[in-house]
Amino acid sequence: MVIRMYAVRFSVFLLFSLLFLDVVAQHRTVVDFNDGWYFLLDDGDHHDEKDFSSWRLLHLPHDWSIAGEFDKANPSGSGGAYLPGGMGWYGKQFTVSYDPTQIISLAFEGVYQQSEVWINGRRVGTRPNGFIGFQYDISTYVYRDGRANTVLVKVDNRAQPNARFYTGSGIYRPVSLIVKPKVHLGDPFVKTGPATHDDAILHLEVPLENMKAGKKAMLFWELIDREGNVVLGRRVAPTRRGIDGRQTVFLDSVRLKNPNLWSPDFPYLYQIRCTLTQGVEAVDVVTVNSGIRSFRFDADNGFFLNGKPTKIRGVCMHSDLGALGAAFYPQAAMRQLSMLKDMGVNAIRTSHNPTAPGFLDLCDRLGFMVMSETFDVWKLQKNPYDYHLYWDEWSERDFIDHVKRDRNHPSIFMWCLGNEAQEQWHCQALGTSIPRRLAYLVDSLDGSRPTVVANNELSSKNPILASTEVDLIGYNYNHLKWRDFPTVHPEKPLIITESVSALATRGQYDQVPVDTIRLWPSRWDIPFNGGNASKHISAYDHVRTPWGSTHEESLYLSEALPWVSGMFVWTGFDYLGEPTPYTWPARSSYFGIIDLAGFPKDVYYLYQSMWSGKPVLHLLPHWNWNSRDTVDVVAYYNQADEVELFLNGKSLGKRQKRDEQLHVSWRVAFEPGELKAIARRNAIVVQERRVRTTSKPEILSLASEQQTIHGADGLAFVRLTVTDKEGLTVPTANVHVRFTVEGDGTLLATDNGSPTDTTSFSSSERATLNGKALAIIRAVNSQGRIRVRAEADHFDPVYLDIPIQRP
Ligand code: GAL
Repeated sequence: MVIRMYAVRFSVFLLFSLLFLDVVAQHRTVVDFNDGWYFLLDDGDHHDEKDFSSWRLLHLPHDWSIAGEFDKANPSGSGGAYLPGGMGWYGKQFTVSYDPTQIISLAFEGVYQQSEVWINGRRVGTRPNGFIGFQYDISTYVYRDGRANTVLVKVDNRAQPNARFYTGSGIYRPVSLIVKPKVHLGDPFVKTGPATHDDAILHLEVPLENMKAGKKAMLFWELIDREGNVVLGRRVAPTRRGIDGRQTVFLDSVRLKNPNLWSPDFPYLYQIRCTLTQGVEAVDVVTVNSGIRSFRFDADNGFFLNGKPTKIRGVCMHSDLGALGAAFYPQAAMRQLSMLKDMGVNAIRTSHNPTAPGFLDLCDRLGFMVMSETFDVWKLQKNPYDYHLYWDEWSERDFIDHVKRDRNHPSIFMWCLGNEAQEQWHCQALGTSIPRRLAYLVDSLDGSRPTVVANNELSSKNPILASTEVDLIGYNYNHLKWRDFPTVHPEKPLIITESVSALATRGQYDQVPVDTIRLWPSRWDIPFNGGNASKHISAYDHVRTPWGSTHEESLYLSEALPWVSGMFVWTGFDYLGEPTPYTWPARSSYFGIIDLAGFPKDVYYLYQSMWSGKPVLHLLPHWNWNSRDTVDVVAYYNQADEVELFLNGKSLGKRQKRDEQLHVSWRVAFEPGELKAIARRNAIVVQERRVRTTSKPEILSLASEQQTIHGADGLAFVRLTVTDKEGLTVPTANVHVRFTVEGDGTLLATDNGSPTDTTSFSSSERATLNGKALAIIRAVNSQGRIRVRAEADHFDPVYLDIPIQRP
């Protein structure tokens, strides 16, 4: 949620035309609290530490695991990418000089995990859950007289494994210091009632905290459009509610004529500015984004957005940002979301935990519908040290905080209460009571979005499927059961909460036959002993897990069956951990449509051909083979009736997609030269693609995805490609490259998208995988220039200059 502070003078008479007074408001301040932290990785007790001279100075967000070495012996195991956990301490000194009537709080967006906070040697609080944000009122802990205050944060991620996937360790999301008046507003929540392009009903709810008797508080709220025009402004008196009338809130409902409706294609955001007044004084102001949209799920006809049938074309995303680890960099998240947008994705499942608030801000702005998920584990464990240890004490609080934190995001469409909870198989009682309780909480805290649970046990023994409180049925996988859904659950809408789990390494191709599908492993509980020595997996969309499907199978069904509201493919990007079907040295997943470094695999274009309005003609594989090879050539295409393939000018025939096939293919005896595909519509050529045999690798080439870096901390994603002398990418080149960064920047990480590369991400040396590698660079000054240099044995060094400009 974006909360912006207005450090302005409020001309109250302008607001209310009451008095000719011009009052300087005592407003709230949000201070960016991410600089000047010291860090120590140590198991000892440092809660009273004052001397940080031997600690490392750093800038948050920070994930210490990602900078560590991959090691088979690390207890995080394959799920945690074999990266280290441990215990870390963060310390920072600060002074405050705010007036004693103001409330000072420290807000953490996410600390993994088991954090404990001390101020000036006094313990403030603890939070085991590493994914949820929390705030402490530190008013009575701080000196306000100019003396230095010390905050210490202990982060304990020693007990491993505590998740099935990589979580990172540390204060990996932003921290802020918030100073607000004693009487202040809570987070505003705007709910859309019925909405069409003609009119919409908006319901506003804003909590009022610490209202003192006798001091009359009023809320003045305004709806502001994208151009900054105030569309409406209203005054509201507070109401009391709650069991003993202890809670004070402002409630208002209003009808808005001709609203701009939010959708993935048109993510229109209004702002709601809430001003709290006491008498003639404006005492607090909070501004949030808001989007107006209506939607419904239908048992027969799927999902409707703003009255229009809309297929949910989603991907699941874990929260790591590849080589950057769990540390949240908005620009890296933006890069992921932009690639997914270009592919035609309109929805994201934030699996399997509350994601970074900044990620949801981006979904609001860029236009993604979000299925927001809270838990991978309820009361029954999946791993020895996972969340089941905290379930009884913390789950209700964590869940409430999650819904309250996120409910104002227009991007959120569903609350997913849990993923593949053990309770669906092993405990009827808990499988009934837990989702009932969570659904009840959603109803009372939100009431505008449906609930769902992601199930992989689809038999009638699973109590969650029989729940009358959970609104939608969520299927994970089981694509062969989607057709029968209306006869099994005639009353309920269906969303495929997770699908596919096919496997591939970018740019890796097996030779014939690729028309037989491989199940790796053959069964989920049978260890896998097959595959290639390299531990890479062919990218023809013919290798999958036994519980999953090929991309093509699920994609076809999701689009074809009207009762399927849509699906969330596992996963949009490769992520750290879960290198199914392999183990060490494989350390990251093969599931992604895009690899860990952000290079698309071939199936990216399959989805793009089905989901986006862009013209697509994509050919695979590359054309560097040996003379006696037989090679299957595949094309993904759209907006055309047929594709004809030519090898060195000779036609190999025309193909058309038939039945449930979403690709066409040819079996070709290799000869070096040029493959050319031509797509025709109504006999007219609409697209053409060529793939050529390259000569040997000779040139390193650098290109930055950003022409300019904007401001200190801005990132540049620099792609290195190995080409032949004509500039064609050599698709099999694995060249050991050394990067250096000079000037006003620093090298954050390197990657190549290989799930088996155990060189630390912080290394400046990286071998290319199939012709490509990535260097992630961060500006350290707000203006200047960064020079990136790449070199390798037997290649000329290459340079790239990237300017930094003030934002
Ligand atoms: C699912 C699970 C995901 C991931 C996936 C791999 O069953 O929900 O978290 O483990 O399998 O295929």
